[in-house]
Amino acid sequence: MSEPRTIAPAEGKLGVLTVGLGAVATTLIAGVELTKRGSGLPFGSMTQMGTIRIGKRTDGDTRLIKDFVPLARLEDIVWGAWDVFPDDAYVAASRAGVLEQGKHIEAISDVLRDIRPMKAAFERKYARNLTGEHVKPGNKRDMLNAIRADINAFRDEKKVDRLVMIWCASTEIFIEPGPAHQSVETLEAAIDANDETVSPAMLYAYAAILEGVPFANGSPNLAVDTPVLRELSVKNNVPISGKDFKTGQTLMKTVLAPMVKARQLGVSGWYSTNILGNRDGEVLDAPENFKTKEESKLGVLEDILEPAKNPDLYGNIFHKVQINYYPPRGDNKEGWDNIDIFGWMGYEMQIKVNFLCRDSILAAPLALDLVLYSDLAQRAGLGGIQEWLSFYYKSPQVAPGLYPEHDLFIQLTKLKNTLRWMMGEDTITHLGREYYDEI
Ligand SMILES: NC(=O)c1ccc[n+]([C@@H]2O[C@H](COP(=O)([O-])OP(=O)(O)OC[C@H]3O[C@@H](n4cnc5c(N)ncnc54)[C@H](O)[C@@H]3O)[C@@H](O)[C@H]2O)c1
Repeated sequence: MSEPRTIAPAEGKLGVLTVGLGAVATTLIAGVELTKRGSGLPFGSMTQMGTIRIGKRTDGDTRLIKDFVPLARLEDIVWGAWDVFPDDAYVAASRAGVLEQGKHIEAISDVLRDIRPMKAAFERKYARNLTGEHVKPGNKRDMLNAIRADINAFRDEKKVDRLVMIWCASTEIFIEPGPAHQSVETLEAAIDANDETVSPAMLYAYAAILEGVPFANGSPNLAVDTPVLRELSVKNNVPISGKDFKTGQTLMKTVLAPMVKARQLGVSGWYSTNILGNRDGEVLDAPENFKTKEESKLGVLEDILEPAKNPDLYGNIFHKVQINYYPPRGDNKEGWDNIDIFGWMGYEMQIKVNFLCRDSILAAPLALDLVLYSDLAQRAGLGGIQEWLSFYYKSPQVAPGLYPEHDLFIQLTKLKNTLRWMMGEDTITHLGREYYDEI
């Protein structure tokens, strides 16, 4: 046991600002409101349903995570959002088509009707398949100032004690880190020059950090993953994390690829394809936007299999990822993986995965956990990148020079050990010391 960290209590209201009020955000909001009313259970959420073992296996001490760490209560959440469409959360949830209208949307229509999005900081060049008119006027400087003003107005009007911002908006076009993203000076100058390498997602993230609001990035957008925002988040002691919710196909990949590697089975090819018919799929149908997603999805195998260190096993792997926009399926994504592997003496085998999932049903609990853990991190005084939240991301944000950890179960161990460490409990190494101490 060590000294627990000082964690401020989760007193008062927690404002949750979602950038984007589309399928994921409305499924998150509706699910939390239904849970609060006892009309559903938050399956998929570690903060609500997960347990954690404390001490040795022989101690028999396993607790609910929400009883172990001081998380904000669902009852204390107050919702706010931005979107390029003016629809309230009731209309947006109905249009997203994820939840059943009668059973799950009408039941909480009063709360959903009250959530009306603020005007978005948006430019069409970053998502050309979107045409909403509910946008902030002016240049990038005007947009940044307006987001900051929105945050403060929300804080005052709703009388919230703390805030978290989570990006649940569309995937932007691919942007590489460049000169504008190096320091506060270069970023400020780029904003004044309306530099196109400063996207709306970066403006939201910058505004959040300037206002002391933790920022979690559910999309693959560069957003907060730039040298300037990493440094500023440390300086201002604001938790940040990203990128891209790990929900369906990549979730499977980060379970299967470590298994193949653990058994030293070779991989010659991994072909992944999807059909998806929601608005996310429509935005990703533009090649510039798909490129951002593709980068996020492709990195995973390279990082897990480390072909340079294992050339015989993975040195010649062909990896392909496709997303096809197919409206009839809506939010019900179907993913197929064909994995060509080889074993003892090079004999070939195949693994096939067919995942009929529901995109936002998988994403909503991750968004909830990220909100609650980001708030916990802030109350525990942990600023900068929250690597322990890698568990939730396809392309985990890490400090420069480090490679991201993708293996789902290493990520889980890291997350739970971070909670134990925060609370002053021993971390669990699985060494089995109690056994060796006896012999
Ligand atoms: N399983 C999943 O659903 C999943 C998994 C991983 C990542 N994501 C990512 O999460 C994000 C949200 O997914 P979704 O299915 O809810 O998409 P969606 O299209 O239903 O919702 C996104 C919303 O964001 C709004 N928006 C776009 N740009 C904006 C801006 N600059 N400011 C404010 N609002 C803006 C759009 O109008 C839209 O209503 C996407 O980037 C997606 O790639 C989703």
